[in-house]
Amino acid sequence: MSEAFRFCVRRDDPAVTSLQPDPDAPAQRTLAVGEVRLRVCLFAVTANNVTCALYGDKLSFWHMFPVSGPTWGCIPGWGFGEVVESRCDRITVGERLFGFWPMGSYLVLRPGTISAQGFFDATPERADAAPILHYFLRRGQSQQAEPMDDRLFALLYPLFGVGYLLADYVATGGATGSGPLLITAASSKTAACAAFCLRRALPAADLWGLTSPSHLDFVKSLGCYDRVMAYGQASVGLRREEVTLIDVAGDARLRDALHQHYGDRLRRSISVGRAHWAEFKPPHTSLPGPRPKQFWAPHYGSVRVSSAPGGLSSEQYNAGLYRAWRDFVSAVLCRPHHPPFEAVTLSGPGGIAVAWAALLDGSAEPHEGFVVQV
Ligand SMILES: NC(=O)c1ccc[n+]([C@@H]2O[C@H](COP(=O)([O-])OP(=O)(O)OC[C@H]3O[C@@H](n4cnc5c(N)ncnc54)[C@H](OP(=O)(O)O)[C@@H]3O)[C@@H](O)[C@H]2O)c1
Repeated sequence: MSEAFRFCVRRDDPAVTSLQPDPDAPAQRTLAVGEVRLRVCLFAVTANNVTCALYGDKLSFWHMFPVSGPTWGCIPGWGFGEVVESRCDRITVGERLFGFWPMGSYLVLRPGTISAQGFFDATPERADAAPILHYFLRRGQSQQAEPMDDRLFALLYPLFGVGYLLADYVATGGATGSGPLLITAASSKTAACAAFCLRRALPAADLWGLTSPSHLDFVKSLGCYDRVMAYGQASVGLRREEVTLIDVAGDARLRDALHQHYGDRLRRSISVGRAHWAEFKPPHTSLPGPRPKQFWAPHYGSVRVSSAPGGLSSEQYNAGLYRAWRDFVSAVLCRPHHPPFEAVTLSGPGGIAVAWAALLDGSAEPHEGFVVQV
């Protein structure tokens, strides 16, 4: 497609999509001093993007990459862009950046303080977003530049960061009891990354993955969980044990059944995602056990990485994340026999529509990850 676009969904119905004009295209605006224009090269499309659309208003995603009028919202996605025009001294044409882009053709950025690793975008629409959502990594120059496929990096690295923060939240945020940690939507990339990081943060933890019957073999093949079960089997063999629920699926019936079954033996109930988006309902006040607590990685990251007492410096955080990521890459992602994830490359707005439909109806295969080249 030669015309610049932004792929949008109706804010009140993510199943209805539309292509809207791209306000950051060269024909639409000239650059001010200090700005750079990037061509969006590729981005990953996973269930996480569907959840971004569902929370477009509440978490202000619609404000990050505006399109005209209140009907449509542009969905963001993690991936790569290339500088095609620059009025900023330290960023040159041809440089490649990794970050959070509009699913569209172009993005104009206003780099703040620029380091060898990257910069925060100071554009007003994004200045209030959580820091990790408007940080752009200079991939070619950073320590994360290990030799790996850009498509797998786009698919897994941001969700690995979420898993890393979630493991830290679980490990430092209070008692999990002696029993297992139940992780739903275990076949999702977020859950697999979280399980890998939980194993490092809590070596003695018993990690149980719950998934759809058709995804059992895949989840077992990941090697990230101690035990893998289909939905419906979560109470098997558990009579007196205390459990912690890490809910990535967001399926209200499943969550409520687990709360009913475990009641006070549920030590913590952590809501992470809405992968089963059509089955989500907010928890009822009479739900037995602890009230589900929402975990939101961008927010937790900005609280955890801070100069407050007990906070991590950004150097400590980045070093820990990098070590964990490097281990995940060699142990799971790039293992020589049967690497678990495969990037499926699609192109242009038609490709986004194909990926979007498969994610909405749940027909996407968990070992495949969609990457769209624009
Ligand atoms: N709280 C946070 O800060 C945060 C950050 C990042 C991601 N997340 C959330 O984590 C969740 C997973 O994201 P992801 O990108 O890792 O997912 P993904 O890799 O695309 O997940 C695929 C899996 O999710 C389940 N699933 C996906 N779509 C479904 C549908 N329409 N119907 C039923 N099941 C479906 C299936 O798992 P099973 O068969 O195993 O159920 C499927 O194998 C999302 O809701 C995302 O927003 C939360």
